[in-house]
Amino acid sequence: MTRLSAITPSGHAHIGNHLGAVRRWACEGRPGDLYFVSDLHAMTVSYNPARLRALSRELLAVLVAAGIDADQVFVQSDLVRELGALSWVLECACSFGEAARMTQFKQKSDSQGMVRLGLLTYPVLMAADILLSGADEVPVGEDQTQHVELARSLARRFNTTYGEVFTVPTAVTPPTAARVMDLSDPGRKMSKSTQDAAGTVFVLDDPDLIRRKIRRAVTDGEARLEYRPDEQPGLANLLEILAACLGKSPREAAAAYRSYGEVKNAAAEAVIEELRPIRTRAMDLLRDPAELDRVRAHGAARATERGAHRLAAALRLSGVG
Ligand code: TYM
Repeated sequence: MTRLSAITPSGHAHIGNHLGAVRRWACEGRPGDLYFVSDLHAMTVSYNPARLRALSRELLAVLVAAGIDADQVFVQSDLVRELGALSWVLECACSFGEAARMTQFKQKSDSQGMVRLGLLTYPVLMAADILLSGADEVPVGEDQTQHVELARSLARRFNTTYGEVFTVPTAVTPPTAARVMDLSDPGRKMSKSTQDAAGTVFVLDDPDLIRRKIRRAVTDGEARLEYRPDEQPGLANLLEILAACLGKSPREAAAAYRSYGEVKNAAAEAVIEELRPIRTRAMDLLRDPAELDRVRAHGAARATERGAHRLAAALRLSGVG
């Protein structure tokens, strides 16, 4: 069993990315697992190239600082030739309807002036990421499970049409904190690319800023201190964050406090303690560009080598290459 997952440098990593994804990758990682910074995916909407480059380095540092083995991380664009080739093969196995049905495409294309073709085809590039690596498990939050389903369909279709090359992957979703919501608007998922950073706790935020953001989190008017996600989404979100940091269930966490203020203080301190060592290590790495370059080059070489025979076989069976 090997796992593959990724984080897109569309902004700074936040507590949702950490609790829903990166922390689990670090804890549950096994020797053959691979985790990467999906910088090519960040090009699907309007972006700034210099900022993309800086964010890719920052996220690479955050992955290593969170405890993922430096041997198991890479940056997606270091494999741009391999992934570009495999994406084309998979695009030719994917229908327009399948790509256009993706919920994330529908949501994101609604809010864009110019809808880039890459936004439509990006789940196919994600399938190429997964299938090139040969991973059988793909840990993702709920928002990404539909994309993993597409990768499954494309793998099966290619294997039955042209010949067995790809491992059919399965999405694995974490039980708690699968969806951390924005602190200012608990109806919306916490997102790296949000315009208003007040509702987003970033992994590299300093402790005072984290305290301020959590204290200002929107809660509801009701004074009941219970975990009721549908009726009290703001409080439920804070309880989920707190519970995930403490390794408890949200209901257990709710039972330990008497007021919203207490929950907010406890959540702020738990988040600060959770992020403290990661922030320190990430800052150290960002101050040592030569070390980060070394990690990056080594990861790129390993990931390229691992996918080479699969790409060659897929091209050969497709009647090209
Ligand atoms: P991305 O960068 O949007 O998110 C990275 C991981 O964080 C999870 N996540 C969240 N979890 C809980 N609460 C939130 N508010 C929250 N926001 C994000 C995501 O589910 C994800 O696990 N397309 C992917 C990256 C990708 C990928 C892949 C993943 C590219 N290629 C191949 C797996 C395999 C993405 O943009 O993730």
